[in-house]
Amino acid sequence: MCGIIGMANERKIKDELLHGLKLLEYRGYDSTGIAIGGENIKVYKCDGNVKRLEKSVPKDEDGYIGIGHTRWATHGEASAKNAHPHLSPNGDFAVVHNGIIENCDSLKARLEKDGDVFKSDTDSEIIAHLLEKHYDGDTLQAVYKTCAELIGSATFLAIRKGENEIYCSRKGTALVVGKCENGTMVASDALALQGYCDCERVLLDGDVAVLGSDDIRIFSNGIEVEREIIPFVQSAPTKCDCHMQNEIDETPTAVGNVFKSFRTLSNDCIAELNRSPRIAIFACGTAYHAGLYGKYVLETIADKPTDVHIASECDDVKFLSPDVFGIFISQSGETADTLHALKKCKSIGMKTLAITNAPLSTITFLSDYVIRLNAGAEIAVAATKSYVCQAFAVYLIAMKLSGKNVTDCSVCKLTSAIDSVINSCEITENATAKKLFFIGKGADEITAKEGALKFKEITYKMTDAYPSGELKHGTIALIDDDSLVVAVATNARDKQRISLAVKELKARHATVVAVSAIGEIGADETVHLPPLDDEKTYPLLSIIPLQKLALKTSLALGINPDKPRNLAKSVTVV
Ligand code: M6R
Repeated sequence: MCGIIGMANERKIKDELLHGLKLLEYRGYDSTGIAIGGENIKVYKCDGNVKRLEKSVPKDEDGYIGIGHTRWATHGEASAKNAHPHLSPNGDFAVVHNGIIENCDSLKARLEKDGDVFKSDTDSEIIAHLLEKHYDGDTLQAVYKTCAELIGSATFLAIRKGENEIYCSRKGTALVVGKCENGTMVASDALALQGYCDCERVLLDGDVAVLGSDDIRIFSNGIEVEREIIPFVQSAPTKCDCHMQNEIDETPTAVGNVFKSFRTLSNDCIAELNRSPRIAIFACGTAYHAGLYGKYVLETIADKPTDVHIASECDDVKFLSPDVFGIFISQSGETADTLHALKKCKSIGMKTLAITNAPLSTITFLSDYVIRLNAGAEIAVAATKSYVCQAFAVYLIAMKLSGKNVTDCSVCKLTSAIDSVINSCEITENATAKKLFFIGKGADEITAKEGALKFKEITYKMTDAYPSGELKHGTIALIDDDSLVVAVATNARDKQRISLAVKELKARHATVVAVSAIGEIGADETVHLPPLDDEKTYPLLSIIPLQKLALKTSLALGINPDKPRNLAKSVTVV
């Protein structure tokens, strides 16, 4: 995904525009640019991040209207040429775009036949060309005509030279608008508006908005409409510059928020879940791991048969039917693969529940029921607090379905245990180990998988995760004195078997670190987890030392853990 922003104001906007763009960098940070409106549109763009861009924008740049973009490359490499904004052939329009235009090849071929020359390898430049083609004195009409030609995900902002308005079109990916001091703003994420606006309005799919310095007009199917005004909740001040560290620290509070939010889940949803003979969970990446934990608790606590699917594979999932209940887990609520799976399930007639941290994201509009995690913004690409919150939400569902009560007191004990793990459980960082393995049995294997994903994502080291009993069936051939193995052990039932696996690993000279709730298992180093009332909630604790290990190793390797290479916070392309 990419970040897009626009500002129309009575004051000069350059500094605010660049600042807002920085806040959106977590959405993509391989190239960036801004366009400043006026009698002639001025474009500044570069590969790299906003800090780099800042140096190329003249200090006295004095525009009152502008749009900006920070990119996660899909069409064409990350370069200044492919960075947005893109200009139309005569320089009349500048455009920033978030999404993927599926019919870009046919549109481009048609425009080239008409003599248009493209300066970039992107699909996005087409929008600027189409706007110029369709313009005959009415910019709004040109926007409509352009939108009608685009297939796929094509949310864009456009400015026209000599005009003082920003034209915004939401098709697919999200767009929010708000009024700020002396002006108006639009962005792909409310984060960029906070600090400037008191509230936001979320555009619905198909909406077009026109922003002037003193008003916002929103149109749906050509008719002016109102959209709900949503006030911002002030977020707590953060402790340090590293978002991932702050977000791990925020986990206990976030878990408490999930508990409060879960109470607002409708009884109808619980009744539908009870009625359904089977549950299907769809999610990607870390959220998929929360889904695996969901299967574990739904089956072992609530006796509810559950399948978990990687959302991008949903086209091959068989045996879905209207009586299967679909749960879709997504921190951002904008992940294209998860939305695709949700649409497929809805078309089958399934009832659907979204578990998301983004209260007004696309997933919340598409699903029948929603659990809003209210975990607070998660900026670091590596999901940390949101994972624990997603897992806690599915645990609460399982407990509710089984008729068991989760009390305030037990949640309080859980959050203090999480807090104590954050503050006292440390695995010694070993940035030099060449091979890394994470192992566990039962639910601990899920933690191992999530630990391995976190580690590879922000350290760029090859890691893998296995059920502890599976190593001896092949992978053990890789083990030698260059191997570091993290063994997660939280179930007393499995003590003997995981201890045996540790012995086998040590016999082949691996260094073994245990994250254990069941005492010593023969590892070289052991991080002991505090006791919990319900052992099924250990995965909410045991992941934290693994997140911290990934973070420390990333920092030791000189990597910015908040913005690992090749990644973006949410992946809005399929
Ligand atoms: O926003 P989502 O939860 O739908 O994102 C899904 C994955 O892309 C995400 O969890 C990803 O795996 C994390 N960045 C991993 O830390």
